[in-house]
Formats: sequence, C-alpha cells, structure tokens
Amino acid sequence: MNKQLLNRRDFNGLCVALGSSLALVGPAGVALSSAPARAATHTVKLHDGTIVPALGQGSARLGQGKHPEPAEEEALRTGLSLGMTLIDTAEMYGNGRSEELIRRVIAGQRDRVSLVSKVSPNHVRGNGIARACDASLARLGTDYLDLYLLHWPTRDADLSSIVAAFQSLRAAGKIRAWGVSNFNVSDMEELFRVPHGDRCGTNQVLYNLTDRGIEQDLLPWCERHSMPVMAYSPLGGAGANLLRDPTLARIGAAHSCSAAAVALAWTIRNGNVIAIPESGSAEHVKENAVALSLILTPDELRTLDSVHPPPSR
Ligand SMILES: NC(=O)c1ccc[n+]([C@@H]2O[C@H](COP(=O)([O-])OP(=O)(O)OC[C@H]3O[C@@H](n4cnc5c(N)ncnc54)[C@H](OP(=O)(O)O)[C@@H]3O)[C@@H](O)[C@H]2O)c1
Repeated sequence: MNKQLLNRRDFNGLCVALGSSLALVGPAGVALSSAPARAATHTVKLHDGTIVPALGQGSARLGQGKHPEPAEEEALRTGLSLGMTLIDTAEMYGNGRSEELIRRVIAGQRDRVSLVSKVSPNHVRGNGIARACDASLARLGTDYLDLYLLHWPTRDADLSSIVAAFQSLRAAGKIRAWGVSNFNVSDMEELFRVPHGDRCGTNQVLYNLTDRGIEQDLLPWCERHSMPVMAYSPLGGAGANLLRDPTLARIGAAHSCSAAAVALAWTIRNGNVIAIPESGSAEHVKENAVALSLILTPDELRTLDSVHPPPSR
C-alpha cells in the first residue's frame, strides 16, 4: 500500500481548509503538542506498517442517481483533497456503478488513493474471487487494490480456500492486502485457525455512537491482534439519523463544527478505527473532513457516554 497516503499536498489541503497550521496527534487522538489541535490529522497504522487516514469515504449509494454524478464525483475529489484518501467500495454497490464512478474520480491520482473493494460471498466458489477481482480492477481502471475484503461471512466455500485465493491475488500483485467484513469474534477466531488467516488486514463492521456493540468484544479482540477496524455507517447509515442528536450539535457548536464532525471524531477517537462516511455532497464532505483534526475533550466523551452508554460487559 502507498506509504505516503497523506502526502504534503493532502496535508496542505487539509490545513488550508482548516485555516490553521500543523500539530501532532498521538495514537489515541491525544494532542502531543501545544499547537492548535484542529490542525492535526488522525491516522491509523495497518499491520504492515502503512499509515492511512482514520477517515475515508464510503460509496454504497454513489453512482446510482441519489445525487447528480458530477456532484458525487466532486464530493469524492473534495474528500481526497482534504486528506480522506481511503475510498471504500464493493462489486455489489449499484452492480459495479459505484466502482465505475470511482474510476473517473481517481483517474490521474491513483497513487494518492487507498482503494478498498469487496467480493460478494456468492462469488467465492472455484476461481470466483480471482474473476471478481479482475472485474473490479477493470471497473476501477487500476491494476491493484490496496485492500480486498470478503463482504460478509459465507458457508459457500471453506475459509481456507477463500484465504488461499486472497493470498494468490496478493502474490500476483493484484491486491496489497486483504480482509473481511461483518465478521464477529467467533468468525475471526475461525479465520485465524486457517493457514495464513492471521494475515487479515481489517474487519469492516457497523460502528457508530448509537451502535456500540463491538466495544463489548470485537473491538478489544481486534486491538489485541493489532488489527484496525473499519467502521461503516459512522453517521448512522442512510439518512444519517444520528445527526439529529442535540448533544452532537451542542458539542459541535463548542468546536465551531457540525454534528457530523463530532460523530466522526468520536468514532475514530481511539487510533484503531477507520471511519468511512459516505456523502455525495461536497459541502457535507467538507464538514466531515473536520473530524480528521478534531479532538474531543474527556468531558465531551463522558457526556456522549452518558447519552449513549457503551454496552455493558
Ligand atoms: N461492509 C458492509 O456490509 C457495509 C454496510 C454498509 C455500509 N458500508 C460502507 O460504509 C459506507 C458508509 O456507511 P453508510 O452509507 O451506511 O452510512 P453513513 O456514512 O453513516 O451515512 C451516509 C448518509 O449520511 C449523509 N451524510 C454524510 N455526511 C453528512 C453530513 N455532513 N451532514 C448530513 N448528512 C450527511 C449522506 O447523505 P449525502 O450523500 O446527502 O451527504 C448519507 O445519506 C458505505 O457507503 C459503504 O461504503 C459497508
């Protein structure tokens, strides 16, 4: 994977957007210097050492008429310019139309993007994963994916053959790393029992302020195994219902930012979670990108815990 995903251009773009200068952020989002906290950037370290921004961009509904396509392309390009350089997609999103839209966005700047796609479980039999990967690469107009995920658990093929297929794609240079999605702890333990299963790079799962179930088991499990979690629906999913929460708006007002930025900063607060909010609106993306540099205070985190308590262990 590109080791310089947040290059000087990305960083400068972010700083210009935020109107301030650079500061340092530690692994748990704690400010390490007295420079302005709003100019820092949250990052996550993948297990191969690659650093990626803790905020990427989803695309499940893009390329399907929700917004005009030029607006959706502009939204993704805006996110890239503000440092949200990880883009998540899947072959099933709009039957490939999301991947095709992303091809137009990343054309000419592929090396700045960390591209994640997913194979559908109904394609895992025989050489289905290799064929699905080739089709995704063609739609995306690239010759490699940074991460290739199994979209959800399946009994259609043994986990060992799925891992072997991912490892072959890696050896062929078509993917840089692979992972899974929607796996619970027992799925992860089963995965780690098959040969090379522990090479899994991430698990992409539902996680936001009102869906905190993974804090009970999966999140600590992934932390113990030095595996970042990729949080989908970080704004509450289609319709972004979470953003109606008045506490988020109140905390946002204290930081001069939106409720969305607060929800996202909360999701990526611990240094092991990459959030992938989706938006087809450049204005929304600008609001969301603020979370890359937003550090919530211990008091604010306690307030959010009291309104949306963590699951009891
Ligand atoms: N692995 C899986 O099984 C799985 C499942 C679900 C999702 N995902 C991935 O995760 C991504 C994100 O999840 P999601 O799309 O379910 O939910 P989400 O990112 O929590 O919410 C998306 C919704 O939020 C709105 N939004 C974004 N920014 C906003 C802002 N600043 N203010 C107000 N509204 C805002 C978007 O509308 P606008 O476009 O109008 O901004 C869209 O309706 C997906 O696109 C997909 O890539 C993966």
